[in-house]
Formats: sequence, C-alpha cells, structure tokens
Amino acid sequence: MSKKILVLPGDGIGPEIITEAHRILDWVIADSGVAIEVEEGLVGGISYDVHGEPLTAETLKAAQASDAVLFGAIGGPKWDGTVAYDKRPEQGLLDLRKGMNAFANLRSAVCFPALADASSLKREFIEGLDILFVRELMGGVYFGEPRGIETLEDGTRVGLNTQRYADWEIERVARVAFEMARKRGSHVTSVEKANVMESGVLWREVVTKMGADEYPDVKLDHMYADNCAMQLVKNPKQFDVIVTDNLFGDLLSDAAAMLTGSLGMLPSASLSDEGPGLYEPIHGSAPDIAGQGIANPIAAILSLAMALRYSLDMGGYAEKIEAAVANVLESGTRTVDIMADGCTKVGTTGMGDAILAE
Ligand code: NAI
Ligand code: MG
Repeated sequence: MSKKILVLPGDGIGPEIITEAHRILDWVIADSGVAIEVEEGLVGGISYDVHGEPLTAETLKAAQASDAVLFGAIGGPKWDGTVAYDKRPEQGLLDLRKGMNAFANLRSAVCFPALADASSLKREFIEGLDILFVRELMGGVYFGEPRGIETLEDGTRVGLNTQRYADWEIERVARVAFEMARKRGSHVTSVEKANVMESGVLWREVVTKMGADEYPDVKLDHMYADNCAMQLVKNPKQFDVIVTDNLFGDLLSDAAAMLTGSLGMLPSASLSDEGPGLYEPIHGSAPDIAGQGIANPIAAILSLAMALRYSLDMGGYAEKIEAAVANVLESGTRTVDIMADGCTKVGTTGMGDAILAE
C-alpha cells in the first residue's frame, strides 16, 4: 500500500524551508523505492487569502487521510489585526492539531557537537545534550472549562481559566513518553506541581502506576515544574524524556530549545493514538527574513526525519538525514543564524544542497 504525506508550506519562510525538506523527501523516495505520494496544500495566511479560511475542510480531510503532515510555518504582519480573530492564520494550526487529535507534542533539544561552541554556554555543559519533551497538547489550562472574564456583583472583574486533566488524558500522553524512553535512554522525568495543584496529584498518581505496572524497565523520576526549570539551566544533561502538561511543557521546552542555539535547528512532532502525525519546525514564519533566501532549513529537514521515523516506519532514513545534518555542520557549512568564525556561509538552498550531497 502506498503512503501519503501532505505538505503544507504556509507563510513567510515556510515555503522556503519546506522546499528544501521536499527535495530531501524526493531523494528518500527515489533511494528507497517506497511509494510515497506527496500532496501539497495551503494553510494559514495564504489559505485565508485564497479561500477566506486559514484551514479549509478539504485540507483538513486531506491531512486526516495522510500518514504524515509536513508543516512549514504560518502568520505574518499582513494578517495581524486585519482579519477576524477566528480567521487568523494561527487558528489554522490550532484547528489542524485538534482535527488530527494530536495530543502528544514531541520536541527535542539536541546539541549537535559542531554547534557546542556556537552557543553562549560552555561546551561541557551542552555537548551531547539530547532531551525529548513530551508535552500534553489538547488539554489543561489552555482549554479547560469554565473559562472567561466575569464581572462579579461588586464590579470586580475576574479572568478565569481552569487546569483540568482526566486520568485517560494523562495516561495516553504518559504512554507516549514511556514508549519513547524505551527507544532512547530509558529514563522518564514526569513534571507537575503536585505540591500545590490537584491536577498534579492525579498526574503523579497515574504516571507512577503506569510506570510500575507496564514499564518497570524504564527509570521514572518526578520533579516539580519550578525545580525542573532550575535543573534545565543548572544541569540539563541529567534528562532523557520529560513528560509534562500543556502549560509547563510550553514554557520548559521553549527554555530548553535555547540551550541548543538557533530556533532554526529544532523540529517537532504532534502525535495521536492512531492516525497521522503532524511534523513542523518549532519556529514561526520569520517575516523579518522571509524572501531573502537565508532561513535555516534544518528544523524543517529534521521534522521530515521525525515523520519518517514515527509515521512512515522508515527510521533508517531518519538516521541518515540526521547524520547528514551533523556532518554538514561538522564541515563548517552554516546559515547566518548559526554562523561562526572560520565557517562557510550559505543560504537556504545552499544548506539544502549540502545536506542532499551528504
Ligand atoms: P519566529 O520563530 O518566526 O522568529 C523569531 C526569530 O527567529 C526571528 O528573528 C527569525 O528571523 C528567527 N528565525 C526563526 N526561524 C528561523 C530559521 N529557520 N532560520 C533563521 N532564523 C530563524 O517567531 P516570531 O517572530 O515571534 O513570529 C513571527 C510570525 O510567526 C508571527 O506571525 C507568529 O504568529 C508566527 N508563528 C508561527 C508559528 C507556527 O507556524 N508554528 C510558531 C510561532 C510563531
Ligand atoms: Mg511556546
């Protein structure tokens, strides 16, 4: 049976970086002989301009019918404040995640050895760093009801959000974390604030039971979220897989991303139980550099590698791509965001060429 990837380049630098990932995908198809059908679609601002919606029902259907979606980035000043709130480009991504039931967001913070000196941090502190965040993406305080802004009888106004987690929501994301850990360092750190939050108490209880019953071979630690923030800055190499809720995962994974240097380096995956995964760089549409041909395509290319590994059962090709990226960086080929003394500066296409050649 042939496989299918839906490619959604989006706005700003999205099309520029996705073009390079697409070239590498074409090479994978040719080299492996695996029949992968690649379809392209519109999402975000460009979809709004053409269809009046940031995500059309047809595009969502095509996403649901694929094995993986490779997504670029969306948004930009053109649409900021000029389109209705529920039609803004960013809504297209939220609707896509929801429509694909993508509840587990995987983000890695990996430090390539060649870039260990490019960071403002000391080499021994980050060299070899390889953390995988598994962030719950469909629940928690960003979505919990009740929510809103209320005016009380005495005129006081109250902004209200609700942190709410059901046991099955915790179970399904914890399972992803344990399964990932088995393929990596066999160590899960579960992060909440069970000291002050009821949702954290339940979180810890559910994860502890799953670990003991189903994953006794995986080392499990628990950590309060505030301590985790401190530990990420103090000794980040202690972590393998970190599983946490939507809010803490948002903050902690953004902070950890910066341990490794440029936003242009970091891929992500959003997975459901069954059905396709959504793969995208963690950066946005970078309007400040769009159209100049200088964006770093590595995050997009590594997102493709994740798609091959997690949704297409082609982990061998994911490893080849990751090794090619490491070798190209080692050889001193750099886009401007990761440029260092003595290295050769290339643009988006030049970086794609170098990785393809490798
Ligand atoms: P951003 O990630 O687009 O850019 C932040 C900074 O990082 C900029 O200076 C940019 O030039 C640089 N940068 C980002 N990706 C890069 C790459 N591949 N190579 C080299 N440099 C890179 O975040 P910002 O500026 O906050 O948002 C810009 C637009 O993107 C907004 O409309 C925002 O809503 C949207 N956005 C979309 C996301 C998505 O599609 N998933 C995620 C975050 C923001
Ligand atoms: Mg964030």
